[in-house]
Amino acid sequence: MFENTIKKIKSCLPKKREYQVHEPKFDLKSLHDTKKCIQSSMVSSNGKYLDMFGCEINKITEAKKILLTNSGTSALFLSLKLIDVKDTEVLVPSMTFAATVNSILYNDGIPHFIDCSDSSPNIDLNKLEDYLKNNTYTKINRLFNKKTKKMIKCLIIVHAYGEPVNMAKAKQISKNYNIEIIEDAAGALGSFYKNKHVGTTSRAAIISFNGNKIVTTGMGGAILLKNTSDYKKIKHIMSTSRIKHPWKVEHDSIGYNMRMANINAALGLSQLKNIKVILQKKRRLFLKYKNILKDDEYCHINTFSKESNPNHWVVNITLKDNFIQHQQRFFQELHSNNIYAREVWKPQHLSRYLQKYPRSNLQNTIKIWKSSISLPSSDYL
Ligand SMILES: Cc1ncc(COP(=O)(O)O)c(C=O)c1O
Repeated sequence: MFENTIKKIKSCLPKKREYQVHEPKFDLKSLHDTKKCIQSSMVSSNGKYLDMFGCEINKITEAKKILLTNSGTSALFLSLKLIDVKDTEVLVPSMTFAATVNSILYNDGIPHFIDCSDSSPNIDLNKLEDYLKNNTYTKINRLFNKKTKKMIKCLIIVHAYGEPVNMAKAKQISKNYNIEIIEDAAGALGSFYKNKHVGTTSRAAIISFNGNKIVTTGMGGAILLKNTSDYKKIKHIMSTSRIKHPWKVEHDSIGYNMRMANINAALGLSQLKNIKVILQKKRRLFLKYKNILKDDEYCHINTFSKESNPNHWVVNITLKDNFIQHQQRFFQELHSNNIYAREVWKPQHLSRYLQKYPRSNLQNTIKIWKSSISLPSSDYL
């Protein structure tokens, strides 16, 4: 059924035996830096590659403060520690990766699922505003859920698949309803909205350097922060809450060991330095797909607002309404052509362990899940 569309997709890709959605590629400089790091024996939580990695992220994002972590998940876990979400509701898109929601549960918070837009996996901020108007009330300057009577303290904004959310609008909602924002920019390194890097306007934002991201340290993450006291607090607890002393080994509170290792920074450094080229290549691949699929019978490619400059981490296409029912068949045909395309994230509220949590109407989320296809998107394609 989809032969013609698959032929077009293949024409955008170089000859290769198989195509995954996203694969890392390391250059000789990465190997060289990693070898040097091993030779120096500074492979753990201190070392020059960590410093250089932090500097490069600063150059790209212009974030005020940066902490490097051992994963995006731990970066989320730590960021939520700034807000103390225990027994309060955290608004979170259902269209996200499981880690976003798990980080709320690790902190004894209550996820409250919010819908995405009907044309993109990103949150629908207008729908959120209406929902808050009708389903919450304010008491002594704090926001509460009318149904559960629980306090709502926080909203997690996810820049899904690297697509930047309009943070000016998100901030206006956060101000009107007195809720804090944490940004999950796990896949959005190199994505800008109105020329500002995502994650730099909120109290805290996170990035992931997992193996499937545009820059990878193997596993790793970063927290972007705005103020020094938040930076100091997280830096302390993520380093086992150890008290500084030349020989005593003492800790002043429960602590976590969630720092990035120097050897991981060494692996990722040269990719970071090369980010402009990586972003150009990803944009080129996106434009190729866009051009070839523009009059396709079955699907169209997702487009972005004029103000946003996404990193095209993963290129998603959407089946036209009449063909959504054939989504699984499309995957089968793609896979039998060695194109290992994937579904987008299964909506979180459908996972058995998350079904009991509060939610808004999530009809767009279901539609986006059932109609989207993530195509091979690696920068070397
Ligand atoms: C939206 C989102 N949040 C969080 C994470 C977790 O990052 P990590 O895999 O580095 O723990 C991911 C990873 O893909 C993600 O896509």
